[in-house]
Amino acid sequence: MIELKNISKTFYTEKGPFFSRGKAKEACGNINMTIGAGEIVSLVGESGCGKTTLARIISGLIPPDSGGVFIEGTALEKYSPLRRASKVGIVFQNPHESLNPMLKSGFIIKEAVKNRMRLGEKMPPELSSVENIFSEFSLDIKLASSRPGCLSGGQRQRLAAARSFAMFPSYLVLDEVTSSLDVSTAASLIKLFKKINARYGTAMLFITHDLVLAEIISERMYVMKDGEIVESGDTWEVFGRPKHPYVRQLKSVGSGLDI
Ligand SMILES: Nc1ncnc2c1ncn2[C@@H]1O[C@H](COP(=O)(O)OP(=O)(O)O)[C@@H](O)[C@H]1O
Ligand SMILES: [Mg+2]
Repeated sequence: MIELKNISKTFYTEKGPFFSRGKAKEACGNINMTIGAGEIVSLVGESGCGKTTLARIISGLIPPDSGGVFIEGTALEKYSPLRRASKVGIVFQNPHESLNPMLKSGFIIKEAVKNRMRLGEKMPPELSSVENIFSEFSLDIKLASSRPGCLSGGQRQRLAAARSFAMFPSYLVLDEVTSSLDVSTAASLIKLFKKINARYGTAMLFITHDLVLAEIISERMYVMKDGEIVESGDTWEVFGRPKHPYVRQLKSVGSGLDI
């Protein structure tokens, strides 16, 4: 289980006079959250509410100002960066920002598999080859010799997901992974993540601004507004009987996805 205990993070946007830190913006305030083994949990909220900040804290890319992240009871900072990546993977909205444009797609996946092997951690045999990982993520093996820039948006996003998954993490943080894709590509990517979850038991934190999409994919959800969690619980309860007016407002905006 991943546990977030009282996570807070403030950014200082402008430099003030005489080296003061400038204007403060609290991106996350006192966040408590859990992601159980094998679970799909959603984090929903509009743009700017602090979702990506939280995603980066959970994956250890930035430290919180206060509070802690625990994986199976161990504080996140106790893990080396490589071991952390074998526990929690992250996939961002714009894969071209996270994929090295100079490397061939097959090489990107091979490196991730090698890193996992280097840790000496167990790996399902069917995930130890680039061919199998490509096929698991519906990528034609012919694309292995192409660089990310030559792939379509959907293929690139599947490659980014495959790269994180090639470390076989127990948890995947998916930060608005379908937001830059068209409706049918987004729908097939969601089906793919559902399949990965069912087949390998990979837990997922599915981050989206779209409450309807969260309802489709997750069993449990957290709704975030202005850096705080305003409502959480089983999806059927939060979506079916929202208590907070903000959740009702989000519900009225449909996803347009046909899944
Ligand atoms: N590196 C940063 N420096 C300054 N402000 C930031 C930084 N990252 C995020 N913020 C601010 O924190 C708030 C939350 O941002 P973010 O976590 O990206 O929200 P979301 O992913 O929900 O759109 C926003 O007001 C954003 O401008
Ligand atoms: Mg974001």
